[in-house]
Amino acid sequence: MLRVVVMVSGGGTNLQAILDAIDSGKITNASVEAVISNNSGAYALERARNHHIPAVCVSPKSYPDRAAFNQALLETVKQYRPDLIVLAGFLVTIPPEMIKEYRNRIINIHPSLIPSFCGVGYYGLKVHEAALKRGVKITGATVHYVDEGVDSGPILLQKAVEVKEGDTPETLQRRVMEEAEWQILPEAINRIANK
Ligand code: GAR
Repeated sequence: MLRVVVMVSGGGTNLQAILDAIDSGKITNASVEAVISNNSGAYALERARNHHIPAVCVSPKSYPDRAAFNQALLETVKQYRPDLIVLAGFLVTIPPEMIKEYRNRIINIHPSLIPSFCGVGYYGLKVHEAALKRGVKITGATVHYVDEGVDSGPILLQKAVEVKEGDTPETLQRRVMEEAEWQILPEAINRIANK
């Protein structure tokens, strides 16, 4: 059984897609051992509690500096002995010590076709705003392994999504989630769980 820890900062629709895929048998041989957030108000924590999964907040506000926060984050993750860490809308830079400890065992979902619209400053709605501004006709989502760079690790899965006439960042974000993110993130976990 692959022990999965999911890290989240916001609404947690990708977390929900993972939990639903486990419940429906689309993901096998994996269990979510904990959901960890930097944000105590993240609705994702509520989704975890509803599923009777430990929901833990490690907030930077509770620590004197970044180093102390990074250490607390790593210690919290370690408690759950993950085989795989899934960043599902986790908007905090992963500490280098964590990347070292869990090399090739951390994956991230990004809401564009990497290498487009990724890297520093590209997260959440900003990604879709940039895609619309550039006028691309196709966008999508990417699941990739996490390394020391920003959105620079090896790509595991990608799925393309059409940009439609009249799209706003919000409508495009929703379509990318529905048609790509909520499919390829569970699929990536299932593939890793079943080699
Ligand atoms: C998702 O669209 C995810 O791809 C994005 O944040 C959103 C979280 O939504 N992640 C990034 O932009 C990472 N660079 P959710 O909390 O509803 O899953």
